[in-house]
Amino acid sequence: MSTPQDFKQAPHKLLAIPGPIEVSDEVLFANAHPSMSHVSPDFVPVFGDCIRMTREVLYTKDAQPFLIAGSGTLGWDQVAANLVEPGENALVLHSGYFGDSFQDCLETYGAKVDQIKAEIGAAVSQEEIERALKTKKYKVLTFTHVDTSTAVLSNAKAIAETVRRVSPDTLVVLDGVCAVASEEIQIDAWGIDVVISASQKGLGTPPGLSIVVASQKAIKVFESRATPVTSYYASWKKWLPVMKAYEAGSPAYFATPPVNLIYAFHTSLTAITKSSPSLEERFKLHKAAAQRIRDTATELGLKQLPFDPAFAANGMTAIYYPDGIGAPDLLPRLAQKGVVAAGGLHTSIKDKYFRIGHMGVTAVDGQRGDIEKIVNSLRQSLAEAQASKL
Ligand SMILES: Cc1ncc(COP(=O)(O)O)c(C=O)c1O
Repeated sequence: MSTPQDFKQAPHKLLAIPGPIEVSDEVLFANAHPSMSHVSPDFVPVFGDCIRMTREVLYTKDAQPFLIAGSGTLGWDQVAANLVEPGENALVLHSGYFGDSFQDCLETYGAKVDQIKAEIGAAVSQEEIERALKTKKYKVLTFTHVDTSTAVLSNAKAIAETVRRVSPDTLVVLDGVCAVASEEIQIDAWGIDVVISASQKGLGTPPGLSIVVASQKAIKVFESRATPVTSYYASWKKWLPVMKAYEAGSPAYFATPPVNLIYAFHTSLTAITKSSPSLEERFKLHKAAAQRIRDTATELGLKQLPFDPAFAANGMTAIYYPDGIGAPDLLPRLAQKGVVAAGGLHTSIKDKYFRIGHMGVTAVDGQRGDIEKIVNSLRQSLAEAQASKL
């Protein structure tokens, strides 16, 4: 196989977990690019384009992308090591498992963290956020836009608005690992300071790339630190000149970028920002796919974790098993029908629910028939699981 048109990935089960997700043949083929030097004149503009297209996905003119080999977790490290100095206060909004992890990471770097915890299935209310911001000065507020353990979608625009109004110096940090490219995020218009993400979910690329985008305000806060950055690999002191150089068209080195993954990311970003459907249409297609899965769950008498559709993510769904059915009854049956779904993750209710991912090509490329396959397999598998208990 030597051209993208010839290339077809091997037959496989449909990966319908909330990341990693299915990637297109074009993206996978791009990942098979011959080995290239990371400082080659052919590679430099590819990296530069990825930086520019990442801005487009997040509706920002001048925020600074950092594309670094690593996973989404490295985004937490970047925030904790570059923007928070030891002893400073951070406020974490908890809408599921990933709020605890972000807190853990911030504390590892010496931050003093307060958490506001929403009940399972809800997001933290604006009133609670306002109250907390009025009682203490926080350097950063973090929230998980879509918590992958609960499928709860937080209202990013409203959170940023509350912070800007009540505590304008507090940096608004959005964990968008499970949201970027499946949920609308407008960095400039909404006043978000940092978005962290990763390649393997809505961005439709294999795992391995940490994607962080920091507003110029966040960069200034970083530049005016009183104490040294508390990480080596995650230090923006090292990475900022590298990102600026690649964007300006010349190579720079701190640590080797994942060259092949950058080619794959470039192909996916080109599809997302330069092709049909447009970015705006993509958000609508994710909403339509989510609605279809949610309607099916409701029709089957299944309850979802988010208890208000206003809190429900568009790139994934979290569904409680019906009484008497558990993961071993349902997930292997789905797999037999060629659909790989995920079990529960939220520690206190882990065995009570399962999760379906519907991001990227699965939601956007109707010709693949992925949503149809998920819905039909869910119907059949549930019927079989219930029949087996009679
Ligand atoms: C919301 C959220 N944040 C952070 C992470 C961590 O990302 P990674 O597993 O790529 O390190 C994940 C992983 O699924 C996630 O869903």
